[in-house]
Amino acid sequence: MTTSIRTNSIRTKRVLAICYSQTGQLARIAAQILAPLQAKPGVDVHLEVIRPKQSYPFPWPFFQFFDAFPEAAHLIAPELEQLALTGEEDFDLVILFYQVWFLAPSLPVTAFLQHPLAARLLKDKPVVTVIACRNMWLMAHEKIKNMLANLGARLIDNVVLADKGNVFATLVTTPRWLLTGRQTGFLGLPPAGIAPDEILRSRRFGLALRDALAADAEKQDAPLLAGLGAVEANPRLYASEKAGTRSFYLWGKLLRAAGKPGQWSRKPLLFFYVFFLIALILTVVPVSLALQALIRPLLRERIARMKHDFEFPSGSGTERMSKYAV
Ligand SMILES: Cc1cc2nc3c(=O)[nH]c(=O)nc-3n(C[C@H](O)[C@H](O)[C@H](O)COP(=O)(O)O)c2cc1C
Repeated sequence: MTTSIRTNSIRTKRVLAICYSQTGQLARIAAQILAPLQAKPGVDVHLEVIRPKQSYPFPWPFFQFFDAFPEAAHLIAPELEQLALTGEEDFDLVILFYQVWFLAPSLPVTAFLQHPLAARLLKDKPVVTVIACRNMWLMAHEKIKNMLANLGARLIDNVVLADKGNVFATLVTTPRWLLTGRQTGFLGLPPAGIAPDEILRSRRFGLALRDALAADAEKQDAPLLAGLGAVEANPRLYASEKAGTRSFYLWGKLLRAAGKPGQWSRKPLLFFYVFFLIALILTVVPVSLALQALIRPLLRERIARMKHDFEFPSGSGTERMSKYAV
């Protein structure tokens, strides 16, 4: 590693990347985005792979999958194996890769943000978040924004990669993938997850970050990934997410009173809730989308404002895509 104190432009830039991935999907996205940074002389990337002490299974047994929602909704994080970091490191940029679990950040990522070292590592640091999920990330990101603000971190960019399948198709294909391990399309439905070519194209964010670091742009308060199609928010899902979050929170409270994760005492309630949840999804999502379609002309301005707010700071603009075409 070559370090110089003569000018900022030739000082080694240190990047902290935090990642947890069960199926390997988010890990593949992280690999694409980090590759241009790792290949750049003068950039030192530390990839911290988060390891919960008790690992989560993949594919998930049915009950264990649903049993994770009370803790996810209440941000009650599991214990982590010791981190490779000491807290003394001084990073120029932090990239937080995360997935959504039950409309909240995944429990391993929540555990990292609640870890005592996170406060030391992230304070005053510019943070880029990269989400890979089915397609419901709005409420999870609100929670991440709060946690980062409480740590004193500066959120400068947010990239979202979501399953491009239809909302209803992915309600079948994603649970099938997570509960059986089968990701392929079936019954005319598309394969679950983020399309392989979209994962490859996420490399453009790494190329742009590499150039931004070379120009010291991370020190300013502007996004580094604007104009690259970083995020496309769908505010029409907001009402369903809000109702779902409330339901997970209230039922999560009840389940947490019934027992600890994995305990038999939770099972009868959990069994009942799964049916309730399926009924909720089959009614609330279509009814909310249909109602919004009916009153869309009245909501146009509000939806545009929400879209802008949820896409802040990176935005959905594509004007720099040709520069970083992959
Ligand atoms: C327990 C659990 C709950 C999930 N809940 C959501 C969700 O609420 N919204 C969403 O868009 N995706 C959800 N997903 C999908 C994940 O965000 C993610 O795309 C998938 O698990 C693959 O991530 P991986 O990189 O860890 O393999 C959920 C996945 C799991 C395992």
